[in-house]
Amino acid sequence: METARTVSDRDQEASLTREEVEEEEEDNEAEREGKEEKLHGEGLQSTEDTKPLQKNKAWKPNVYCTLPKDQYYFVGRNISIYESIDSYGAIVWPAAVALCQFLENNRKQINLEDKWVLEIGAGTGLLSIVASLLGAWVTATDIPDMLGNLSCNLHRNTRGYSKYSPQVAPLCWEQDLEQTYPRSVYRYDYVLAADVVYLHNFLDPLLVTMRHFCQPGTTLIWANKVRFQSDLQFTDTFKSTFNTTLLTEVPEENVKIFMATNRE
Ligand SMILES: C[S@@+](CC[C@H](N)C(=O)[O-])C[C@H]1O[C@@H](n2cnc3c(N)ncnc32)[C@H](O)[C@@H]1O
Repeated sequence: METARTVSDRDQEASLTREEVEEEEEDNEAEREGKEEKLHGEGLQSTEDTKPLQKNKAWKPNVYCTLPKDQYYFVGRNISIYESIDSYGAIVWPAAVALCQFLENNRKQINLEDKWVLEIGAGTGLLSIVASLLGAWVTATDIPDMLGNLSCNLHRNTRGYSKYSPQVAPLCWEQDLEQTYPRSVYRYDYVLAADVVYLHNFLDPLLVTMRHFCQPGTTLIWANKVRFQSDLQFTDTFKSTFNTTLLTEVPEENVKIFMATNRE
């Protein structure tokens, strides 16, 4: 994986003229589409399952920019997120934004205050930041490459504003779960996951990870933008694995948010 651009790279971009920025945005869009096509092609056979549901064009995020940071407003706070186009986890995905909005609007139904919350596949950390600002004790996890930017975003946006300082930890789906996160010790009130289902070869490990953490007493909240036939297949397996409720849909974004609990 290429090295993510650093904060100082971004600071340099801040001094670009508007024309230079627009030119770079066009270049980045072309590069992003090239990368998406390449990534989608890597290690995956093209099958009925992996056909896009709506269009063949490479996926493009709804929220992105090449300026120094992207701005959001949740829980009464401006949240600035450093993004990059170097990997899937370095941009904010639409399901994360939808779930942040849902959590902010439904604080009584999903009360995160003083709750233990784990996020898997946290990416840039927007969702973990919002959970933290809502009063939760948050651990944001992802693959090791993602943790630098994740940690930077989390701490810059919560320091002095959150009740509990959020934690960042490596967690590769299915790997060493019982050794690193023994079920008897790591019991979370909520497990959050946004846009973790897309075209990749880790859907089975993802489900194993969800099962590992979704113990009796835990509520798993999974938000996803539905793009491919394989997303629907995962949804079926998800529904047969847990007790599930569809919390809400954002039809214009094709995002669904599910709540799940343990079946055992
Ligand atoms: C599409 S991004 C979504 C990021 C973020 N949740 C959001 O919605 O903005 C998927 C995330 O899952 C992480 N991921 C992918 N495969 C993984 C694996 N095998 N183990 C752990 N995390 C993984 C990626 O690093 C990335 O951060």
